[in-house]
Amino acid sequence: MSYTGRFRVWRGSSVGGELVDFDVEVNEGEVVLDVIHRLQATQAPDLAVRWNCKAGKCGSCSAEINGRPRLLCMTRMSLFAPDDVVTVTPMRTFPVIRDLVTDVSYNYEKAREILSFTPPIDLAPGEYRMSQADVQRSQEFRKCIECFLCQDTCHVVRDHEENKRAFAGPRFLMRVAELEMHPLDVSDRVSAAQDEHGLGRCNITKCCTEVCPEGIKITDNALIPMKERVAGQRYDPLVWLGRTIRRR
Ligand code: SF4
Ligand code: F3S
Ligand code: FES
Repeated sequence: MSYTGRFRVWRGSSVGGELVDFDVEVNEGEVVLDVIHRLQATQAPDLAVRWNCKAGKCGSCSAEINGRPRLLCMTRMSLFAPDDVVTVTPMRTFPVIRDLVTDVSYNYEKAREILSFTPPIDLAPGEYRMSQADVQRSQEFRKCIECFLCQDTCHVVRDHEENKRAFAGPRFLMRVAELEMHPLDVSDRVSAAQDEHGLGRCNITKCCTEVCPEGIKITDNALIPMKERVAGQRYDPLVWLGRTIRRR
């Protein structure tokens, strides 16, 4: 079945823009990215959109569809009725470069702030051993395709540009948790999570988990366990006493 779909697409640049209406052919089995490509081919050849794999694996085509952060290539047109207006806008949390393309440098800056895996000094590569349970636990986090939809949706930075400096966002707090759970990592990730990466600003709204296209349980499996470790280290009186005595 084919029909003429009604689309409203944001066009503009870093200095401003507007929603523009288009009528575009939609065919059975298509995803929103197919329609955006047809729009480029037939009516708006200069429409900027970032994409690569068209298979939900490169994380490039992140945008907002009817206000919800989504991958353009994994959002089926069958989700909408033929007479719905489908609104496609760039991710709101990051500065627009042009049309649907945003500048996601914030995320790379946050990635660089995380100390890399730090194994014990007396273990050489090749001598690392860890249990299968620990391997499996971090496997979930390693499914991340770095689409940054979770970063886009988290209210801590979505409407608060001023929080970006002190908050790494769910994707990178999850990375800190992954390293903290690694049995061979010897860095103090608990203090870093709270003091450097802003874990305390997360109030567990779980919006990040809801939009993750990989279905990673970011909040339940990474952020909450990390918060528990902070609470255990900072607010358990015995742990606090032990740490204070050790520091002397
Ligand atoms: Fe995207 Fe999920 Fe990774 Fe966040 S955790 S960047 S939503 S894949
Ligand atoms: Fe933000 Fe996710 Fe926490 S949306 S507030 S990082 S649970
Ligand atoms: Fe690669 Fe959509 S184009 S995830």
